[in-house]
Amino acid sequence: MHLDNASILRAAEWLRSARHVVVFTGAGVSVESGIATFRDSGGFWQRFPPDQFANWNGLLKIAAGKPKLLAEFLLEVLAPVAAAAPNPAHRAIADLEKHTRVTVITQNVDRLHQDAGSTTVHEVHGSLFEIVGKDGEFVRLLSRPQMQDIVRSLQRAARGPLTLPRLLWAIRSLYGPGRKVFHRPSIVLFGDAMAEPAWSDSWEAARECDCFLIVGTSCVVMPAAMLPHEAQMSGASVIGIGPEEGRADVWLRGPAGEILPRLVRAAFGQQTQCPNSLTQPNDRACWSDNPGT
Ligand code: OAD
Repeated sequence: MHLDNASILRAAEWLRSARHVVVFTGAGVSVESGIATFRDSGGFWQRFPPDQFANWNGLLKIAAGKPKLLAEFLLEVLAPVAAAAPNPAHRAIADLEKHTRVTVITQNVDRLHQDAGSTTVHEVHGSLFEIVGKDGEFVRLLSRPQMQDIVRSLQRAARGPLTLPRLLWAIRSLYGPGRKVFHRPSIVLFGDAMAEPAWSDSWEAARECDCFLIVGTSCVVMPAAMLPHEAQMSGASVIGIGPEEGRADVWLRGPAGEILPRLVRAAFGQQTQCPNSLTQPNDRACWSDNPGT
């Protein structure tokens, strides 16, 4: 991986001088935590076509006709999330709060930003862990160990011949009739409205921030994909991070778990490990000494 030193320094300067930084994340930020993206080769939507699996009608149809397939899909979604822990990218984003005001806007439903310590996180596509009732009213927040229990119970159920009642029993704390209300995770599927107030708050933050970081998203799913443009039009500098270059004022190519900690160090000079394992008190010096790795 070659990183252009001038681009890092430019991005670091924007970060350092910003009063309000928005970090807009997608599936790529969680890759290094073991969670697959949707659209990369071998990504989720290649194995489970979104016209069938990314909307409630499609899922209900599969549940009725092919419960075994639905169980396979649910295990692919839930098992990596249940086992995941924040990676250096999530932690670098949380660390930013030591230096400036930060709003995280995420399309992810994995709660890894909160686990890393970020305090203002808008989950515009909802959350797998937040359980809501029929009208979106909050019911409870599942913990990661509870999600692991659901995965184990689903794995046990999927071992034998699987009927729909057996499947629903296995996932009953995630989805189904509860004591008072029918409940489900607050995830946003295609055709659903964006999660509120997360979406309105995100729009406002994008307009108000002076530095906007895009991390690990293909920026193709609307309306979330409008946020970087909105921020740029409102005067923010836009920095992109990810292996494939997209639209931004500066794009830092590479995995978020490597680039983000470097960027935060370059901006704020933390005493941490430099590239090539040199330890220096200030990464700005480190960057000029080690132009790109
Ligand atoms: P995508 O799968 O569309 O894009 C993932 C992005 O992450 C791509 O641009 C990859 O290049 C990048 N990437 C891969 N590995 C990376 C790494 N280690 N570090 C940084 N970036 C990396 O996923 P999203 O953009 O999140 O919505 O998809 C947006 C929405 O589409 C999802 O929230 C979901 C999906 O359909 C709904 O289901 C409503």
